[in-house]
Amino acid sequence: LTADYIKNRRPGSFPPGPRAFPIVGNLFTVDYNRTHESLTQVTDVKKIDHSKSERYGDVYSLRMGQTWIVVLNRFDVLKEALVDQGDVLADRPNLPLLQDISQGLGVIFSNGKIWKQQRRFALSTLKHFGFGKKSLKPVILEEFSYCAKEFKSHKGKPFDPHLILNNAVSNIICSLVFGHRFEYGDEKFMELMSWFGKGLELELYNSFPLLMRRLPGPHQTVQHIWNSVKDFIRVEVKEHKHNWDPSDNRDYIDCYLKTEIEADDTFDEENLVVCVFDLFLAGSETTSTTLRWAFLYMVKYPEIQAKVQAEIDKVVGTSRQPSMEDRADLPYTDAVIHEIQRMSNIVPLSLPHVTTRDIRLGGYTIPKGVTIIPNLTSVLFDKNEWETPDAFNPGHFLNPEGKFVKRAAFIPFSAGKRVCLGENLARMELFLFFTSLMQHFTFSMPAGVKPVMDFRFGITLSPLPYEVCLTSR
Ligand code: HEM
Repeated sequence: LTADYIKNRRPGSFPPGPRAFPIVGNLFTVDYNRTHESLTQVTDVKKIDHSKSERYGDVYSLRMGQTWIVVLNRFDVLKEALVDQGDVLADRPNLPLLQDISQGLGVIFSNGKIWKQQRRFALSTLKHFGFGKKSLKPVILEEFSYCAKEFKSHKGKPFDPHLILNNAVSNIICSLVFGHRFEYGDEKFMELMSWFGKGLELELYNSFPLLMRRLPGPHQTVQHIWNSVKDFIRVEVKEHKHNWDPSDNRDYIDCYLKTEIEADDTFDEENLVVCVFDLFLAGSETTSTTLRWAFLYMVKYPEIQAKVQAEIDKVVGTSRQPSMEDRADLPYTDAVIHEIQRMSNIVPLSLPHVTTRDIRLGGYTIPKGVTIIPNLTSVLFDKNEWETPDAFNPGHFLNPEGKFVKRAAFIPFSAGKRVCLGENLARMELFLFFTSLMQHFTFSMPAGVKPVMDFRFGITLSPLPYEVCLTSR
């Protein structure tokens, strides 16, 4: 215990935080079903250890097992850290499970030259909203038509939209990356997508890696499933090589395979597999979860739904599909989509970063090698930034004349060097899918059922399973 105390005591200039217990530190003082709320309460006057009321400020520390983490809260602190001192926080920490799975390759969990090159390549191919010959807008709208057909097949009766939305959004990534989509209900594909939401297991694994590596448990299943996903991608890469046509860039894999490579570049098949894996990992569940929240908010606020539909009817009408050019003429709809993203807060603690050298933040010194958690929740629900932070209020994004206004504190995609790589793609998907849905359907709850706005804390913050009725308009 004495050795643990000496090894793990906070250095003098380190950010303060709740008392850490021997060995486990603050591991069991966080409620993992509501991690983001636990972490936000530490910075607020509320508390997590229930014994004394303390406020630790916007930069505070916790010890998770043997690992110190620093949690950053509020817009100014996050901006100072991720944007103004972005270089110091551009790396990801060496989290055991993530390293075991990605082996430092790809984009999301890589660092240094691999991250720079792979991110730049993915961004440049995404820049024109499509890979190779596949441009994004027709891909999204084509997928919407399959999805709408599935919704219509329920004939206004209650159903859970989760699988259909997951299929639709994953299929958009499939079309862009593999050059083809899958039939809905493809069992193998659904199984491969089913590993999300393992927050607590990951946290335990990352805190006690040596122990957890030897133990059976859900984290082993996650690892097994992730390996299956990678095998699945390897088969697609092999088929692309087999059907090789140097004059035809069909999709992301083709573009990648045709990249001109210099001797010390990091473009190789393993990085390709992990990059494709990353696009699925980061791009499927996020967008489909946001759409699931969108359904819930629309049934909870039918008057807002009606206002959105009226605006779409007026600007787009019923005889054509919506396009991105319509966005400027749909300020209310745009505001509603932003408010859905703010309230649903699906990546509440962003992804972890690590300090690559000592950094001064909020008057404290954080040494090199400390894991940093950017608490997006503390910004998206900050009462100093939003007029009614806890209420669903599209007015947050509208001026008195009803024009759309951007808000700096709207940061669901994080900020800085590691800002979400798929932000533009996600915004486009959300806009085209949401407006098309509102154009075609009216959403309601089954008779006698009220929408439940509670969440499940996994890799994304997702709604609890629910059934909804979609009536054709
Ligand atoms: C990273 C949010 C959709 C690809 C992130 C991060 C957040 C985020 C908070 C962490 C940023 C940081 O580390 O500071 C979201 C939300 C989405 C969404 C809210 C949808 C509503 C997408 C899509 C893709 C994507 C559609 C791509 C197909 C990525 C990648 C990273 C990332 C590759 C890692 C970037 C890096 O480490 O350099 N996203 N994301 N995301 N996102 Fe997204």
